[in-house]
Amino acid sequence: MKNILVTCALPYANGPIHLGHILEHIQADIWVRYQKLLGNKVYFICADDAHGTSIILKSKELNILPEIMVKKIFKDHKKQFINFNISHDMYYTTHSKFNYFYSLLLLNNFNNKNILYKNEIYQFYDNINNIFLPDRLIKGKCPRCKKKDQYGDVCEYCNEVYNSHELINPISVLSKKKPILKKTEQLFLDISIYKNIIYNWIISTPLQNQIKNQLLFLLNNNFNIWNISRDSPYFGFKIPNKYIYNKYFYVWLDALLAYISVFKHFCYINNYNIFDKFWNINSNYEIYHFIGKDILYFHGLLWPIILDVLNYRKPSNIIVHGHLKINGIKMSKSKNNFITSEKWLNYFDSDSLRYYFSSKLSFNISDINLCLDDYIKTINCNFINKYINIISRICPFLDKYFNNILSNKLLDNNFYYFFVNKSNLISDYYLNYNYCQIFLEINKLLSIINKYINNYKPWNICNSVKKKNELHNFCTTIINIFCIITIYLSPIIPNIFNKIQKILKKKLYWNIINNPILNHKICKYKKVYKYINKDLLFNF
Ligand code: MSP
Ligand code: ZN
Repeated sequence: MKNILVTCALPYANGPIHLGHILEHIQADIWVRYQKLLGNKVYFICADDAHGTSIILKSKELNILPEIMVKKIFKDHKKQFINFNISHDMYYTTHSKFNYFYSLLLLNNFNNKNILYKNEIYQFYDNINNIFLPDRLIKGKCPRCKKKDQYGDVCEYCNEVYNSHELINPISVLSKKKPILKKTEQLFLDISIYKNIIYNWIISTPLQNQIKNQLLFLLNNNFNIWNISRDSPYFGFKIPNKYIYNKYFYVWLDALLAYISVFKHFCYINNYNIFDKFWNINSNYEIYHFIGKDILYFHGLLWPIILDVLNYRKPSNIIVHGHLKINGIKMSKSKNNFITSEKWLNYFDSDSLRYYFSSKLSFNISDINLCLDDYIKTINCNFINKYINIISRICPFLDKYFNNILSNKLLDNNFYYFFVNKSNLISDYYLNYNYCQIFLEINKLLSIINKYINNYKPWNICNSVKKKNELHNFCTTIINIFCIITIYLSPIIPNIFNKIQKILKKKLYWNIINNPILNHKICKYKKVYKYINKDLLFNF
């Protein structure tokens, strides 16, 4: 049995959970559920990222205290993830005692290692709103490819990472005016001395190939210093004045530390003594982070440094996904195609989105397109017609002729074990985050079952006793094969999985498929899923 800790990136507590977040949590949750099916001990944690300039600005806009705002948003975020059946063991916040403790500890360790120094720099300042601007609130032309409208830290077009000063024609996102450069003293880390350590980590970790290459590139081109302090107004942890006067910890520092502090809190409230077992430098327990490609620099380069400085182990892997697009267009408020998780559930359900996303997810970082027409087609024509309809077609025979009791043998053992034998293949796809291959493989299997049913034509079987026995065995075979497929899909569609377990009156788990379920009474079939009405898209 393995011990595994899984995390997703912490959503900012300045707005609602949207389908981009949900995509990431579904990707991780499917993997977590699969690991649990194997019998591994998995802890899945996440939190709200409650600090930073974006939080203070939002709270000003809403005219409430940031503390109150992040509490309200936290409640809502938690609810949204529950609605999508994301099986977090702990969803917490960065605005916590443990997180403050680790922020101080880390700073102290930086100091002891003599890599901390103060320096005066010029930073962009919006003198209409009286605030220093973070990179994401500065936009301009990319210094490399000259693409307009790029953020102050990285070009989304050519992926160049740069300093905001290098942007051509910078503009403050807040005032839409040119920001001024203002002198300010900040706290810096000399990270260049970690180059070798990080290089070795990248080389020895089974990262996605593209990710490995991107990290090696960043390591060689953009890896010297890290500014870890910020000016007020800010919402976050104050840095003790002995290090620097009147500054705050940069949000990314305490956000990353939350992977540790949230787990610490989890162990503390449950009285588990597994914290050290996971984070100890020699730990053989496993830690996996699921993130989007926009935050690779922080996780792939800065996070291993933090762990090194704390003398903790480094992650087993970081799994990176691409961005969600809606009908081929990047999701954004300005393009009016921003879908919150709440809005989604007002129209559709969670299992169908989980199923659709899994049909698109793989171990690469290309963007994922939610095409709404295609989504409805996939659910109605593929998921319902090919999968759900198997049980809805067969159960009525069991009800009408056999009192809902499965027979004592299968009609065709070889046919049944053909499906059982796919289990290793499906397992590999789960383990390698290759969910789109599961979708393809399951579809091949569903075509085979449906063809088998259509060839047998159970509806044509006359009432002779011999034929009736055969029909009974036939239905039992199909229900058992349906069980196999349902178990294969169970990490993806937890709601439907539960409903089907109830109908079959059986707890389904991965290894149950080795022996078919016989002589067993099931429930009378009740609809488990209904077709999605295409008209919903008109108002969506
Ligand atoms: N707070 C930071 C993460 C700190 S982790 C120590 C952050 N927050 S975020 O809310 O902007 O994003 C959280 C996660 O959601 C990130 O992994 C990000 O890549 C992912 N996504 C946000 N928008 C997304 C899409 N449109 N599509 C897919 N994933 C997206 O970054
Ligand atoms: Zn560019």
